[in-house]
Amino acid sequence: MKEKVYFPSHQQLRFSRRLHKMVRRLVPDCDVRFLQSQCGSGKGAAMVTAVAYRLAAQHAERQRVLDTLRLSREKLLEVKKRMSEEMVRGLSKQTHEQASVKMLPTFVRDTPDGTEHGNFLALDLGGSSFRVLLVQVKSGKRHNVDMHHKIYTIPQETMQGTGEELFNHIVYCIGDFLEYMGMGGASLPLGFTFSFPCHQSKLDQGILLKWTKGFKASDCEGQDVITLLKDAVRRTQKFDLNFVAVVNDTVGTMMTCSYEDPKCEVGLIVGTGTNACYMEEMQNIELVEGDDGRMCVNMEWGAFGDNGELDDFCTEFDHIVDNCSNNPGKQRYEKMISGMYLGEVVRNVLIDFTTKGLLFRGKLSEQLKTRCIFETKFLSQIESDRLAMRQVRSILQHLGLTSSTCDDSVLVKEVCSVVARRAAQLCGAGLAAVVDKIRENRNLNQLSITVGVDGTLYKTHPHFSSIMQETLQDLAPQCQVTFHKSEDGSGKGAALITAVACRMKSE
Ligand code: GLC
Repeated sequence: MKEKVYFPSHQQLRFSRRLHKMVRRLVPDCDVRFLQSQCGSGKGAAMVTAVAYRLAAQHAERQRVLDTLRLSREKLLEVKKRMSEEMVRGLSKQTHEQASVKMLPTFVRDTPDGTEHGNFLALDLGGSSFRVLLVQVKSGKRHNVDMHHKIYTIPQETMQGTGEELFNHIVYCIGDFLEYMGMGGASLPLGFTFSFPCHQSKLDQGILLKWTKGFKASDCEGQDVITLLKDAVRRTQKFDLNFVAVVNDTVGTMMTCSYEDPKCEVGLIVGTGTNACYMEEMQNIELVEGDDGRMCVNMEWGAFGDNGELDDFCTEFDHIVDNCSNNPGKQRYEKMISGMYLGEVVRNVLIDFTTKGLLFRGKLSEQLKTRCIFETKFLSQIESDRLAMRQVRSILQHLGLTSSTCDDSVLVKEVCSVVARRAAQLCGAGLAAVVDKIRENRNLNQLSITVGVDGTLYKTHPHFSSIMQETLQDLAPQCQVTFHKSEDGSGKGAALITAVACRMKSE
C-alpha cells in the first residue's frame, strides 16, 4: 500500500501533548505510548481478514487431520464384517495358521454351578502388576467368594530380561504371599491367569505363542508356562504347588461374571491390552476333537489387522505408534484401542499439530518428545466432563507442557476425544461380530446375552463404555447386550475355573 505523508496540524499537536500529560498524571505507574495509525481502519480491516484467513486455514488443517481418525458407519460395518471373516478363518483347521485372529481353544467348557467349594490359589500376570490371591469359594445357597490378595510390581528389566529371571521373580512373590498369609507349606490347587496368547491342548498347559504388551522375556515363546513355573518352583526348593489351570484374563473375567449372571458368555478386556473370549460351539472349533456342547475360545483379537485387515482405516499416527513399538506389525487392532497405545496415538497427533504451528505456539517441548508420557489415566482425566478447561491446562502443566494456552487445552481435549471415540467404536464393531456370531450359531432371531468386562480404560474413561455400547447396538441390532463390570478381576476367575476343574475331577 502506498502511504501518503501526513503532517499533523498545530492544533492536533497541542491536543496530543495535553492527552499525554493527563494520562501520565492519572496513571503515573504506567508507561503509556501512543502510536499514530497512519491509514486508519482500512489497513485494520485487511489485517483482520488476513488473521481470519490464517485461522480458517489452521482450523481446516486440524479438522482434516482429525477426520482421518473419524470412522463412518460404513467403515465400522466393514470392520465388523472383516472381524467375522477372521473368526471363521481362525476356527478352521485349514486357515488357522494364516489367520490373524487365532481363536484359541481354552478347554473351559463349564461355568460354575454353585456347588464348588474350597481354598484356591490364583496368580494373575499380564498387565502392569502381578497379583497373588487366596480365594475361598463357598458352596450352598448363598454361594460366595472371599479373597485376599497382594500386588507386586514387575520391574521393566524383569519383563524384558530372561525368562528364568521373570519366573524366579514370580515364584519369589508367591513365596512372600504364602508367608504373609501364614500358609507356608500348603499346596493348594492353583489357577494361573496368564494374559498372553497361549496354545492349549488341555487346561493345565499353555504354550506361549508370543509376548504382547511390552513383555519380552527371553526363552519363553514356544514354552509351556506351567513348566516354566514348575521349574522355577523347583529351583527355590521352598514349597510345592498344585497347578490345575492356565487361564487368559478374558476367560477369567467371563467366569467371574457368569458366577453371578449365567447369561454371561462373553469376556472382554479393555486395559493395557484388549481381547475377547466367548462360548463357541464345539462343532465349529476344528482344532479340538468332538462336536458336543461348547467351549470358551480366547479370540486374541488384538492381533486383528496383522494381515492388513485394518490398513484402510489406519492413519499415519497408527503407523508411527506401530513402528516405534516393541512388536512392529503385530497387535494392530490392540494398538488402535487399548490403554498402552492410545496415549501414544494422541501424543503423535499433538506432535504433528505442533510442528505445523497449530498448537503450543509451534514449540515442540522435550516432554512431548517423550514416549508414553500420556498414560491412560490422563486421557480419562482430560475427557472428564466435570473438568473445566483450567483443569485440563493444569494436567498439561503437570505433564510438563507448561506453555499451553486455553485454545491449546481445547484442542488437546478434542484430540483425546476423537482418538478415544475411534477406539470405542472399533471395539464395539468387533464385539458386534462376536455377538452376531453367537446369535447365528444358535439360529436365533434375537439374542439376549451378557458381556463380562474388565480393564482400566473401560472402567475409568468417562465415555468409552457408552460409545462402545452405542456402536454395538447400531451394528448388531438383533442382539440385546448387557454389560457386567467385573469387580474382582480375572484372578478370581482363574480360581473359579480351578474350582470347577476340581469339582469335575471329584465327580
Ligand atoms: C493382550 C494379550 C491377551 C490379553 C489382552 C488383555 O492382547 O495378548 O492375551 O487377553 O492383552 O490383557
